[in-house]
Amino acid sequence: MSTDPRAEIIRAEGVTKRFKGLVAVDHVDFVLREFDVAGIIGSNGAGKTTFFNLLTGYYPPDEGRIVFKGQDVTRMPPEKRVDLGMMRTFQLTATFDSLTVVDNLVLSYYRAYEKPSLLALFFNTCKSRRNAPKILEILETFNLGDIRNRVVKNLSLGEKRRLEIAMSILADPSLLLLDEPLAGLAESEIKMLLDVLKARVGRQTILIVEHKLSHVQDFLQRLTVMHEGRVIAEGPCEECLRHPEVRRSYWQIATEAGEGEAVAS
Ligand SMILES: Nc1ncnc2c1ncn2[C@@H]1O[C@H](COP(=O)(O)OP(=O)(O)O)[C@@H](O)[C@H]1O
Ligand SMILES: [Mg+2]
Repeated sequence: MSTDPRAEIIRAEGVTKRFKGLVAVDHVDFVLREFDVAGIIGSNGAGKTTFFNLLTGYYPPDEGRIVFKGQDVTRMPPEKRVDLGMMRTFQLTATFDSLTVVDNLVLSYYRAYEKPSLLALFFNTCKSRRNAPKILEILETFNLGDIRNRVVKNLSLGEKRRLEIAMSILADPSLLLLDEPLAGLAESEIKMLLDVLKARVGRQTILIVEHKLSHVQDFLQRLTVMHEGRVIAEGPCEECLRHPEVRRSYWQIATEAGEGEAVAS
């Protein structure tokens, strides 16, 4: 029994997913507690995205169960999990491309809280709510103030991803899940995105699936390392990286990701 007094947010018990003969996720146990900022790393094909899809309900597991805030959600569809406070951002963004940054934020905030029809919301309330305290705060936290009036389709990938995460956070999710949020970003954009995520530490439970450990190592409190569908190590980052099986398999991860120095110490 764990003695950690913080509330459990999500738990996976013996979760398994097979694709024909292949065991993509193999009896994985996993727990996240409130305000954990945790990462899952592993080589390509380790099962990270499949596990992520099981947590968020994209697939049901073949075995095992998933409990979210005390409720069994193993067979619950993704949109119901969103209603319970489980939020993921998609690589293909859910932003409205021809609207401005600030109007996207207004829409996602008031949609989450007031659930009116989108059209009514847009015509009646967008303008008047662009300066609502919550909107101003999120523009500042996510460093979006300077581009608040830019139309989304003209943003860089990094700006768009920042907006997307800001939109997710406006709905005040109990759990924010990010699958490779840094993929495709330039170094400067990576730094900016990590800085805004750092500002959420202690206020938000976050799970990041990431291929390149070097980017998130300083930021994560906890790491889970997957290899061939299994969890091979779990705990503080340095401890995980000292684990013999991680060192063996991480060599492949490191080589693929071009960060061999991470295991050379
Ligand atoms: N929809 C699918 N159908 C068949 N095989 C899949 C499917 N999704 C993933 N896989 C396989 O499952 C394994 C794990 O993939 P994935 O979870 O995407 O790994 P990761 O995200 O760690 O790179 C891989 O061998 C992959 O080819
Ligand atoms: Mg993946």
